[in-house]
Amino acid sequence: MAQHTVSTPKLAFAPEGLGPEGEDSGATPYERYARLDVLHTLQQPRSKIDAELSFIITTQVMELLFDLLRHEWTRAQHALREDDLTEALAALRRGTHVQDVLNSSWDLLATLTPVEFTAFRPVLGEASGFQSSAFLHLEFLIGNKAEKLLAMYQGSTATHQELAGALRAPSLYDDVLALLARRGLAVDGTPSTARYQPDPAVEEAWRTVYTDPATADLAALAEALLDTAERVTRWRQRHYASVKRSMGAKPGTGGSSGLTWLKAAAEQDVFPELWSVRGAL
Ligand code: HEM
Repeated sequence: MAQHTVSTPKLAFAPEGLGPEGEDSGATPYERYARLDVLHTLQQPRSKIDAELSFIITTQVMELLFDLLRHEWTRAQHALREDDLTEALAALRRGTHVQDVLNSSWDLLATLTPVEFTAFRPVLGEASGFQSSAFLHLEFLIGNKAEKLLAMYQGSTATHQELAGALRAPSLYDDVLALLARRGLAVDGTPSTARYQPDPAVEEAWRTVYTDPATADLAALAEALLDTAERVTRWRQRHYASVKRSMGAKPGTGGSSGLTWLKAAAEQDVFPELWSVRGAL
């Protein structure tokens, strides 16, 4: 049988930023670039139940996508602050595609049976997605701020600082409302560190935006935000369905009542006036 050898093509230039020194010198440029040496060591089931691997990988994939979504929403915020609607819309659009992948990632858990989940659930201990700092950062960005949740991260200075910064900074919706205020609409664009509360003046501003041809660009922004909001809710609904399938109404490992708690979260509208205004149009 013929022997095949795979040789790495020589690059005409020296690639930069491929990772720290001391990596396996035999690694391909692809392995070094994507840090596969680290990545593929991170999936370590704690039980002997086969289904635990898909649970870990789904969690890790979603965590990476939470980070990517934060990146896009932050880019949208910076564009809004510059009054650059074109770039803000582009960032939100990229974000909705990330959200679509996040939402379809629940398919990976669709085959997890309650018998399998119950068999490996004890290895989770008190671990729960509720403790995801990347998810909490996204919550703060959409206006669901809750200072008391920072207490979970007292043991991790960097995470605590990041979230405390996000709590004090304007949310994505705050930046949208500040833009509406700059465009002469009667809204108070002052950011708050508390959970966003629906405001009749904001609903009225969106009514104007949707009906006045002079603000067609802001109406496009409103629709992009609604696309975003709907996908956040869809993620919560799919999470709820996964939980219902895999463990029914048992309490959560994070200490919540489980389904009842998740249902209440799924029923809260994101960017609430963009939903309520529909009844006024
Ligand atoms: C079948 C698998 C899963 C079950 C049974 C489950 C269960 C739960 C439960 C019961 C809660 C409420 C808090 C608690 O008491 O623990 C929760 C919250 C949460 N879970 Fe899951 N989960 C699953 C998969 C995932 C995955 C794959 C992720 C991805 C990272 C995730 C992320 C979250 C997040 C971010 C929260 C907080 C939600 C919020 O604040 O609205 N979960 N989960």
